[in-house]
Amino acid sequence: MIETTPTATGTTTRTAATARGLTKTYGAGSGAEVHALRGVDVDLPAGRFTAIMGPSGSGKSTLMHCLAGLDQPTAGSVEVAGVALQQLDDTALTKFRRDHVGFVFQSFNLLPMLTAGQNILLPLELAGRKIGREERARFEMVVGVLGLADRTGHLPSQLSGGQQQRVAIARALVAQPAIVFADEPTGNLDSAASSEVLDFLRHSVRELGQTVVMVTHELDAAAYADDVIVIADGRIADHLANPTRDQLVAALSKRAA
Ligand SMILES: Nc1ncnc2c1ncn2[C@@H]1O[C@H](COP(=O)(O)OP(=O)(O)O)[C@@H](O)[C@H]1O
Ligand SMILES: [Mg+2]
Repeated sequence: MIETTPTATGTTTRTAATARGLTKTYGAGSGAEVHALRGVDVDLPAGRFTAIMGPSGSGKSTLMHCLAGLDQPTAGSVEVAGVALQQLDDTALTKFRRDHVGFVFQSFNLLPMLTAGQNILLPLELAGRKIGREERARFEMVVGVLGLADRTGHLPSQLSGGQQQRVAIARALVAQPAIVFADEPTGNLDSAASSEVLDFLRHSVRELGQTVVMVTHELDAAAYADDVIVIADGRIADHLANPTRDQLVAALSKRAA
């Protein structure tokens, strides 16, 4: 199923994920409700690198978790790769995530007793996919693009933070997910390792045609993205296509990010 969205130029682009009226209220009925999302409508175009920015507590992680099927919205709908997530039961949702969604977290979440290569192949193993010629070719390509070819036999503890996060990105990409979500992927990295990781996310969009959605509160990280969504107090405040740095600063300062 392929979704299309009209663009300003009248052409259409594929949409990797769509949310309509997305609402998330924590502690509903407790008298101490937190309105994390207050009716978010968003279309995330396929084959692009989108950054979600906004102040701490504005709802960035909640939005990402609802879009990724990791969290249930209180109201509203989410479609990923043309599939309405609210129609899936828990088992189907787990399978859907495994087959179509990639994740990169702030803490790299690699298994310490597996080599880098084994960590990267784990999603395929978990999905019960045989590692045949096609899977092997994809593995080699991802590892090559991410500059990890001479690191696949290393344990995570033998790699730098930046290399570990590259392994986590390779793991997210190996099954060719419809969309990759990264929540503050550079939050635990120094600035050199951060630019390394951001370069590789950028690469995965440009050279592998992936769709990447990255939550960040860092302007320097967002500068790598094609599109920037600004979220403030649970609402989309701005959606900028190819913003210049000045436009981004203006949009964020308006929201006191
Ligand atoms: N599990 C939870 N229970 C209660 N409140 C939560 C929970 N998760 C997030 N929140 C609240 O929802 C709001 C949005 O949080 P979050 O999406 O994590 O923001 P961000 O990622 O932009 O920092 C915040 O006020 C936060 O405290
Ligand atoms: Mg967050």
